[in-house]
Amino acid sequence: MNLSDSFEKIPVQIFKSPSEGSISTAHEIAALIKEKQSRNENCVLGLATGSTPIKVYDELVRLHKEDGLSFKNVITFNLDEYYPIVKDSPNSYWYFMHKHLFNHVDINPENIHIPNGEWKKENIRKRCEEYENEIEAAGGIDLQLLGIGGNGHIGFNEPGSSLLSKTRLLVLENSTRIANSRDFLNLNQVPKLAVSMGLSTILKAKKIVLLAWGNKAQIVAKAVEGNITDQIPASYLQQHNDCTFVLDEIAASELNAF
Ligand code: GLP
Repeated sequence: MNLSDSFEKIPVQIFKSPSEGSISTAHEIAALIKEKQSRNENCVLGLATGSTPIKVYDELVRLHKEDGLSFKNVITFNLDEYYPIVKDSPNSYWYFMHKHLFNHVDINPENIHIPNGEWKKENIRKRCEEYENEIEAAGGIDLQLLGIGGNGHIGFNEPGSSLLSKTRLLVLENSTRIANSRDFLNLNQVPKLAVSMGLSTILKAKKIVLLAWGNKAQIVAKAVEGNITDQIPASYLQQHNDCTFVLDEIAASELNAF
């Protein structure tokens, strides 16, 4: 169901299952990569981690292996990374991205950009500035994939983040650490800090696709239908002119239109 013409402040596409929404999103990304290839251009993707986008990556890998989709013209920038964390940790987003996508496609490793959990603390400000500059030098992000935290965060931009925020070191909310502790041995192992693209970085992307499945219904409704507020960072996406929320029926269930 496509509710792009309805009264939501952000267009939503609703699918029967996460699988259908993921496959549709992967095909949209593949179409963009190919369109750019046909024009001899790079395709700059902003990528997300978490459980939500895994099936999108599975489908992109399948399209590479079975349909010959090439990633040679793809440049990627990941949203965020825990801090500090070593790349080889199974909990790093570096590890996640290689496990789910990069190890299985023909992307040039030099085209992969992920905030580095091993950056020296005294250099972080400079490294974050460089990250912003690298995005600009690549021509800006063509398509930014997002998930959403239960508290409305995008990337690791927690409630209270400024609309003007750029890539930076920030403190994670306890609710985020508790939610993400399912991937760690226990809560104490979850880093207290992270490096994340800022809200202004995300909003500069030419196109944004936010995915949400299952138990995200309440926060999705607030982001799509509520007022813009720094207490729900995803609500700032209402200000973007090409942002779509891709939802399954459960995540859409609190929307008025649904
Ligand atoms: C993490 C990531 C976010 C992600 C969110 C939701 O905190 N930094 O980018 O959107 O979790 O995670 P999940 O997709 O597992 O629900």
